[in-house]
Amino acid sequence: MKWPTSELHIHIEGTIESEFLVAAARRNDVSLPTYDPAELTARYVFADLQSFLDVHYSNLTVLRTERDFHDLAFGYLKRSAAGGVRRAEFFFDPQTHVNNGVPLEVVFAGLTGAVQEARETLGISADILLSFLRDLGADAAEETFRAAMPFRDQFIGVALDSTEIGYPPSLFEKVYGMAAAEGLHRVAHAGEEAGPDYVWEALDLLGVERIDHGNRALEDPALVARLRDERIPLTVCPLSNVALRTAPPRLADHPLRRMIDEGLVVTISSDDPAYFGGYVDDNFDAIERELALTPVELARLAANSFEASFIDDETKAGYLAEVGEALATAESVASTRALRE
Ligand code: ADE
Ligand code: ZN
Repeated sequence: MKWPTSELHIHIEGTIESEFLVAAARRNDVSLPTYDPAELTARYVFADLQSFLDVHYSNLTVLRTERDFHDLAFGYLKRSAAGGVRRAEFFFDPQTHVNNGVPLEVVFAGLTGAVQEARETLGISADILLSFLRDLGADAAEETFRAAMPFRDQFIGVALDSTEIGYPPSLFEKVYGMAAAEGLHRVAHAGEEAGPDYVWEALDLLGVERIDHGNRALEDPALVARLRDERIPLTVCPLSNVALRTAPPRLADHPLRRMIDEGLVVTISSDDPAYFGGYVDDNFDAIERELALTPVELARLAANSFEASFIDDETKAGYLAEVGEALATAESVASTRALRE
């Protein structure tokens, strides 16, 4: 079943499939350890977040031209639309590309062009979040923010990603204040590898509207109560968590079950689907199977993804009606199956 969803935690750079990587490397004359896509994919076994980031950033040197950014984003939007995604709010890491010698206007032109084309030809709605690399520090984030101001109308918010431990949200209070003054949305990765204190800081100091990941929030009952009472969404990425060992090795033991039972506003996303074994529909299939989620629980996750998205209320209502229809279909399939048993 392809649930109608909004994908809220997706790094556009993490959608670089090995075939695309090889083609871009050849086109742009960038060397890779191997030009066999299957062999590249087979190497994607990670010990932790950093070991993934090292491969990820190294691969991104193949992205050089407007076409590269356009095709990457359009490919993601096409694949996702086929998997039920109606709305995507995707991150990009400008610092990675600028440090690789690609001008910001080239990156924006490619990504924005893809968003417009996908809206017109695929009917999928998308917007862009500018993400700061936390391990490059606060001054670099502020410089990046200022450099992005000429493109202010091409992104709707800011985010914070990359190496988590050692780079707490508090470092980025000033740049998040600048973003708030610009009327931008604010989200941040927190509680992926680092503890609940990073989630508190993201809420209290950065004023975020959603927490990306947030798994380790479960260690702090007062924080769980805050997230529940204020209905702050968590963008949870089950296959990513298993691949990066931020959750137990068996998906059946993923804290998602506990998050749902605690009454948290959980959404499901793929994070970096080219590396972690699948897109958002693959994540839905995996959690349905491994955590034995009911159609009502899956529909709740899908509905949460629209509730938590940065779209207007009327558009939201339309998507929520679609989730209702999908639930009716899923329940009738389930009861027909039960009758046969
Ligand atoms: N950049 C790409 N994927 C990431 C993740 N899961 N956590 C932090 N930074 C990232
Ligand atoms: Zn992420």
